[in-house]
Amino acid sequence: MLDNITSTKVIPNEINGEFTLRPQYLSEYCGQSVAKENLSIYIEAAKKRGESLDHVLFYGPPGLGKTTLANIIANELGVDIKITSGPAISRAGDLAAILTNLNENDVLFIDEIHRLNRSVEEVLYSAMEDFALDIIIGKGPAARSLRIDIAKFTLVGATTRAGSLSAPLRDRFGIITKFEFYTHEEIRNILLRSAKVLGIEIDDESLDELASRSRGTPRIGNRLLKRARDFSEVISDGQLNIEVTRKALEALGVDELGLDKLDRQILETIIKSFGGGPVGIETIASAIGEERVTLEDVNEPFLIQSDLMYRTQKGRMVTKLAYEYLGLMSYYKED
Ligand SMILES: Nc1ncnc2c1ncn2[C@@H]1O[C@H](COP(=O)(O)OP(=O)(O)OP(=O)(O)O)[C@@H](O)[C@H]1O
Ligand SMILES: [Mg+2]
Repeated sequence: MLDNITSTKVIPNEINGEFTLRPQYLSEYCGQSVAKENLSIYIEAAKKRGESLDHVLFYGPPGLGKTTLANIIANELGVDIKITSGPAISRAGDLAAILTNLNENDVLFIDEIHRLNRSVEEVLYSAMEDFALDIIIGKGPAARSLRIDIAKFTLVGATTRAGSLSAPLRDRFGIITKFEFYTHEEIRNILLRSAKVLGIEIDDESLDELASRSRGTPRIGNRLLKRARDFSEVISDGQLNIEVTRKALEALGVDELGLDKLDRQILETIIKSFGGGPVGIETIASAIGEERVTLEDVNEPFLIQSDLMYRTQKGRMVTKLAYEYLGLMSYYKED
């Protein structure tokens, strides 16, 4: 458990907690202000016209609130939401069944939409564009194509990697939104709200400490808050003060910037084994025995955001700041 405290994946026993901490309406959703303002206008307009909202694509690192915002869209529109994911829809028929069960203006949320397989994706094209399904009946020369209409719906797709989406699919989204890491202030507000929801007494200093170590990611912030609460209940009187908070963070292996063991390992490997880079992501992944996608989707965006690493044509390089931060200046070569 200690290893995955900053994991941006949902940990199974968190699912209920995630639900209660999830804001339900735009007004409770902190940050991502550009996305939020635009969406509120589009939602308002769609409601006025009594039409379905244009299809929406969310992309960005995990844990930044894509699923949450998809649910909020449905709530704000006052419609039902059906939630599924790319890998869960294995056959075209599965998607057809989902689509024919939607009601007018409903939201269909497909998480990890870049992982839809080809034949399923093709069904989506006409569904998104013409709100129709083309079904082939029979086989061989006797096969006929039949077009059936489906309800006008809004597809909300979410992905950690917009680059993996095929062009025809990407082009069918009217609203494309990139999720950004949250600022210190925004995470602080989210944590304050979570503390209220969970009935946690926390002081300002602890809030700041947790916010600055959350990697700009609400899912991690909420997780750190809950673990710090556990510490406060066991080693003190249940109030979250700075001593307890620091103890908890230390025990969890989260450092001042919010880096965890894997983040530090990535930087250290580039510095010690590859002279600071440039080195390919595949090489880094095999050197530390991690999957490339994890490094690319989870670790790299934050390391780049923190000015510890950058990408070049030839591969990843660490910055001077990374040497300083890890206390490895003895490896640093001026060029
Ligand atoms: N803007 C926000 N305001 C308040 N809480 C938020 C916000 N965004 C996210 N959260 C909290 O963070 C948790 C994670 O968000 P969510 O599951 O929506 O992320 P995600 O982007 O869908 O991640 P993934 O890519 O892993 O599916 C939610 O349970 C919610 O409590
Ligand atoms: Mg999600």
